[in-house]
Amino acid sequence: MVRESWGTRIGFIFAAVGSAVGLGNLWRFPWMTAENGGSAFLVVYLAIVLIVGVPGLLAEFVIGRRSKRNPAGALRRLAGGSDSWGLVGLLGVFTALVLLSFYSVVGGWILRYVGASATGAYFGNPGTYFGSVDFGVEAAAFHVGFLALTALVVAGGVRSGIEKATKVMTPVIVVLLVALAGWAVSQPGAGAGLSFYLDFDPSYLESHPVSVLQAAAGQALFTLSLGVGTMITYASYLGEDNSLAFDGSVIALLNTGVGFLAGLVVFPLLFALQGGLSETTAGGGPGALFVGVAGAFNQIPFGRVLAVAFFGVVLLAALSSSISMLEIPVAYLVDEHDVPRRAATLGLGGLVLVTGTICALNPGLFTTVSGPVVDTLLTAGLAGFLVFTGWVLGKDALAEYGTGSGALARSLGVPWLWSVRTVLPLFLVWTLALSFL
Ligand code: PHE
Repeated sequence: MVRESWGTRIGFIFAAVGSAVGLGNLWRFPWMTAENGGSAFLVVYLAIVLIVGVPGLLAEFVIGRRSKRNPAGALRRLAGGSDSWGLVGLLGVFTALVLLSFYSVVGGWILRYVGASATGAYFGNPGTYFGSVDFGVEAAAFHVGFLALTALVVAGGVRSGIEKATKVMTPVIVVLLVALAGWAVSQPGAGAGLSFYLDFDPSYLESHPVSVLQAAAGQALFTLSLGVGTMITYASYLGEDNSLAFDGSVIALLNTGVGFLAGLVVFPLLFALQGGLSETTAGGGPGALFVGVAGAFNQIPFGRVLAVAFFGVVLLAALSSSISMLEIPVAYLVDEHDVPRRAATLGLGGLVLVTGTICALNPGLFTTVSGPVVDTLLTAGLAGFLVFTGWVLGKDALAEYGTGSGALARSLGVPWLWSVRTVLPLFLVWTLALSFL
């Protein structure tokens, strides 16, 4: 069977941006920023995206396009059939399933909130409402709904499923977010939120350098979908005429822009309408979006309409990311075990139905998986991909990087390769070690 590929160059960019832009930007980023001192976190995070994120993205692209395979097949094949490298790739396939198990539960919450915004169900008391729906049988049911939507797109295939869907979803997300941000910053009292977010204040960073660094690194990988093999898989459907460096920069820039915009929506809302960061918003992860922001909508005219628009955007963003998670194990079964795409999607969907339901019923497990487990798996995964690119592919990586790219990008090839070989994996291993201490 002929392997699938993207129909257009822009199709790949939309799909990859769709993967990157997700709950990481809209739910995790404002929460992390709030918890880690605001503006100073923003600066550290931006630096890590640029210094670690972009080169990491390119390493995954190089592995994917060179091998035209899923992560497990890619590493084994490019390492001349090495089963140990195959296992490193297989770790990515496993991580994708772990990620999707908790992500789909949050996706289910959002699905529910689109409806609840229309009826105003949580308007009376957002905190109590969220507390009554976050975990349990109903949460599991909504998770299954979200997962079914994800599987529907993946079952359609690369071109007529993923590409078609994300080509519409991604621009809609960006346009709606810009509109929402314009509205949010013009709210009376938004200034306090903006200055918390944007006025650089190094004092928190100075007193908590290690924890800010770690949180910023974890967030940078999560938001760029790195360390799982998503970008390996998406780049495996690419042709030789795309410039990896150009596409990677566009993807990182758009993703960062959207994360930044999300902050422009969330912080003014929290400060203008909620009077600042309450315990729920600064403490628990889900709080900022589902209690803080949701609570703001009941105090404004046209609150229901705006709330539906807001959670609608979040839903689209979450879906275009969950699609990219499910695609990894699906590609693995299709490539390595000749399973037809639909059967693979159905089988893996069934598996995540069960693992996600377990998360939806166990708040403790959910929190551990969505926090430290995911951080560790992503960091270890990306370190593995970098070492592989730098030391196993070496010169071939440089050649693949250069294919289709312009003079400027090519001149950056050698420094890129050396950073992938040395400082970047060391940095990741160091943050990993810190998290265990
Ligand atoms: N980047 C996605 C987000 O921000 C999450 C993701 C991580 C998707 C890893 C795929 C792989 O929501």
